[in-house]
Amino acid sequence: MKAVVLVGGFGTRLRPLTVTTPKQMLSVVDRPMIEYVVSTLKRGGVSEVTLALGYKEDLFRASYPDAVCGGVSLSYAVEPEPLDTAGAVRFAADTVGIDEPFLVVNGDVLTDIDVRSLWDRHREIGAQATIALTRVQDPSRFGVVPTDAQGKVLGFVEKPSRDEAPTNWINAGIYVLEPEILGRIARGRRVSIEREVFPSVVAENGLWAVKSEAYWIDIGTPSTYVQAQLDLIDGVRGPAMTAVAAEARVDEDAEVERSVVMEGATVAVRAVIRDSIIMQSAVIEEDASVDGSVIGPGAHIGRGAKVTRMSIVGDRVSVGAGRLVDGSKIPSSD
Ligand code: GTP
Repeated sequence: MKAVVLVGGFGTRLRPLTVTTPKQMLSVVDRPMIEYVVSTLKRGGVSEVTLALGYKEDLFRASYPDAVCGGVSLSYAVEPEPLDTAGAVRFAADTVGIDEPFLVVNGDVLTDIDVRSLWDRHREIGAQATIALTRVQDPSRFGVVPTDAQGKVLGFVEKPSRDEAPTNWINAGIYVLEPEILGRIARGRRVSIEREVFPSVVAENGLWAVKSEAYWIDIGTPSTYVQAQLDLIDGVRGPAMTAVAAEARVDEDAEVERSVVMEGATVAVRAVIRDSIIMQSAVIEEDASVDGSVIGPGAHIGRGAKVTRMSIVGDRVSVGAGRLVDGSKIPSSD
């Protein structure tokens, strides 16, 4: 099985972290996000992955110089300009010469969805495209997908208001596509798979879906980027992962509660860290507190400073002693 993984977006919602690092290269507990995505694919039987790259593509190549990631061989398709989700799939398929059914996944989804059973169901139905669905409480920021009892997709409603959503089952960002679908995607311009391609396949009764109750989270926002990591250390997704890296230095009189402290980070005496992510080599000085927030790689939180309410402190940014950062991103990207 071959897969195209979409990793070329700007990741604007995760700024300022994504100003220096593309979203899928941001660490999630102990390794870059992309490695979790590739593991899910490998578990399902995928042996070749093409990364559909754009923004900061060089950082992916530099991280996987042997073109192997998580035991799977990688190839790269670098768009000359962002072509959006379907344009990127066409470009990647043209670049590596895909002419058989293949998987497509969004690179910012962490999930245990079984891609093999999605694949098998796709072949069994003979669909043009088959998408995995996951259930969420609030579907209003997703593509909502009503189906009939057999799983035939009846519509594709992008980001409906909460009251108008016909169902809570949403597009999980994982698809099996027949190669013929590629012919529907114009070359060299932005084309959205969710807004343009899927609605046209629905109109021909060719789009099918498979519902899954497996773990799923789209980690493209600050709160879900934090949540996904807390789920991993809480053991919500299998055995609990170690929250504090062996190479981190946490003073014995610091308090670290339900938080990730990545390698090389320092948490000084009497600092308090709660429900937060302290990234590589960040320094939290004495008496500082970090609550429900993300401290970027190499950032420095001065003595007695307070960072709270889903704030994000960017790469190597310093927060002065005693300062309060409350629900803000610094530097601000506006
Ligand atoms: P935001 O700017 O925060 O919305 O993030 P994003 O740019 O990543 O966009 P979004 O989360 O909607 O994208 C879903 C997936 O598609 C992500 O894995 C993106 O990296 C990827 N993606 C979005 N646009 C493009 C594109 O033009 N080219 C490629 N190759 N991938 C894209």
